[in-house]
Amino acid sequence: MIPFKLLLAPLILCAITTAKTTSHPTTSSAPAAAASSSPSSAAGAAAGPPPAPTPSKIAQPPVPNAGLTNNPSIYTLSPTFQITSVPTTREFWWDLEAVGGAPDGYSRLVYAVNGQYPGPLIEANEGDTIIVHVTNHLDVGQGIHWHGITQNGSPWMDGVPGVSQCVIAPNGGTFTYNFTVSNQYGSYWWHAHYSNTLADGLVGGLIIHSPNDPLKLGQDFDEERVLYVSDWVDVTSEAVVDALLTLGTFDGSVVPPQGDAILINGVGRTNCTYSELRHKSTCCDPDYPVIEVPSSKRIRFRVINTGAHAVYGISIDNHALEVVEVDDTAVWGPTIHEIRISPGQRYSFIVNTDQGKDGAEFWLRAQAVVKGLAVFRYSGGISWGEPSTRAWPDLEADSIPCVDMDVNYTLTPRDAKDAPSKALQTQVLSSERGNFVSVNGVPFGGQGFNNISFQNQINYPLLEQVEDGHAIDGKLVANVAFTEIGGGDIIINNLDNVIAHPFHLHGGTFWILGRGTGNITAKEAGKLKLNTHNPLRRDTLQMNLGEWALLRIVTDNPGVWPLHCHIGWHLSEGKLAAIVVQPDAVKGLYKPPAWSGTGRPDILPCRFEQVKGDVYGADSIVTHLEPQTMTNHRRQQPRSSLSPPSWDPEREMQLHCDCGNRVEVRDDTRAPEDYEGSSKPRHYGRGQGGKDTASHEGYTMRSS
Ligand code: C2O
Repeated sequence: MIPFKLLLAPLILCAITTAKTTSHPTTSSAPAAAASSSPSSAAGAAAGPPPAPTPSKIAQPPVPNAGLTNNPSIYTLSPTFQITSVPTTREFWWDLEAVGGAPDGYSRLVYAVNGQYPGPLIEANEGDTIIVHVTNHLDVGQGIHWHGITQNGSPWMDGVPGVSQCVIAPNGGTFTYNFTVSNQYGSYWWHAHYSNTLADGLVGGLIIHSPNDPLKLGQDFDEERVLYVSDWVDVTSEAVVDALLTLGTFDGSVVPPQGDAILINGVGRTNCTYSELRHKSTCCDPDYPVIEVPSSKRIRFRVINTGAHAVYGISIDNHALEVVEVDDTAVWGPTIHEIRISPGQRYSFIVNTDQGKDGAEFWLRAQAVVKGLAVFRYSGGISWGEPSTRAWPDLEADSIPCVDMDVNYTLTPRDAKDAPSKALQTQVLSSERGNFVSVNGVPFGGQGFNNISFQNQINYPLLEQVEDGHAIDGKLVANVAFTEIGGGDIIINNLDNVIAHPFHLHGGTFWILGRGTGNITAKEAGKLKLNTHNPLRRDTLQMNLGEWALLRIVTDNPGVWPLHCHIGWHLSEGKLAAIVVQPDAVKGLYKPPAWSGTGRPDILPCRFEQVKGDVYGADSIVTHLEPQTMTNHRRQQPRSSLSPPSWDPEREMQLHCDCGNRVEVRDDTRAPEDYEGSSKPRHYGRGQGGKDTASHEGYTMRSS
């Protein structure tokens, strides 16, 4: 093997902190990580090492001058924020820019809002109007989605290019989001919804307070924090998406990247040796992020998984976590050692800082295939450097079941709301990965629902199509409609044999009425006895492979609402369906002025509020046929017409990032000693696999 260390560029820069030598946790300080590498299972022993891929250079745009900032104000909610039912308007001005930054130590181009990653935090009250003036200085189009905000009465503010709006034009285009937050409160977030550019940095928190919120500062907790957890890839999302769409693989794998590092509050550590070798930039180890909290207090953490792929197990050594919120639903929940959080989901937990004196330090862990660490520190006292704490023994033993939290725990909404006792209509979406045929008859490998992989008509948003009285073309977009007002059921069958997905619904929450192994039809669902008395409601559901779920909604929000996998790479491969609610009512809806023409016949029928320069190339018209969720207009290459690479379920199972796969599965080309938790040379053989496959056997749907 080449001694990669010798190839390190002499110039080491770090945009976050000055480079310093910090030893990674040893066995005693990161036992869970170390324990997870023991090749104990039969699968690990039998499979042998994967073929070592040759590090390929991945073309990357030049890195601009370092401009990225990590703003400490977004991690602590203001104790003086006035929670009131008197509505107000909160107005923000955001500049989307490409800046240089190194969240994980490796310098790359980052997309940032006002230079920040994670982006600005918005705090508002239920009833407030939020106005965000966005100017897009990037050279790709954009749209900002307000994840979990129902947009009831303002579906054109939902921020999805090709569904609810045209892109905000690149190179200076502007768009103003203006919506009122009605009948909801809790933890939300915002993110880019164009291709998978949220993975380039366009994410942030959105917290809605309310006097109606049963969780109260002073009563249930003494302080509150926001915790942002994300995977981070050392190349731009465009390189990954282009590779997945044209080759069907990235870095030699059909499985999208799991992240070169896990960022906690915007900071992580990549393997510099590997990153520098492959992508030719500068790299260093940032300090671990420090989360400082007062001792002897009850701290509420609102955790947001802003990542593109991984499911995390979040734990703090020595501290139990009381689960009190699931997405935006305040709940009575368990007190446990680890929460599992999928992309798009939020959880709040309350932690008591009663495990030591001022200055005490503990590891906060984000566990997936790649691991993230932060220092959880009681303020005051003396800092002794890094914590020497061990993970909870049950986490070391990896005994936490690998499924969404509602499967194993009772999570009872504090603000009780019964689901409608019956559904007027039932619609089925069956999720598949495999071979599809585009509207042009070109075969491709991708992700989809009901045999259709989403093909973005980015120049004619679906919402506008329905407003114009058209039916959505079922050859381009898997779509279903709820025509009546009342209860509606969505059945999701995850037919993907080896892939778990976090499915997110726009336009409202759903009640989880049932889950089970296999798949079901609408008729079978109709025969189930269901508990509609205050079941858990949320907006993002982790579904295991080979599982079905029955979700009940109230169809009172006319619009065109995406339901999609929140693994951004799967989304970019077409895992999106459209739910049309009350198409007749949508016909009468307002059309924002931004949809009225640009006078550019070459870009009709899309309309921009402002277009500067000649930013649209020849593909601005043809891209709408590309089977890509959020079309990247820069792409000139047609999608590969080759058959997708052969699909190896075993490899997918072993490489897939989803929870349970705690074993390290790495390229042999990487330097093991650079990984967090490494204390000795490791086997980088195939993983032991997760518990994903077996854990659902015998799980039965909750019924009354
Ligand atoms: Cu958080 Cu459609 O996404």
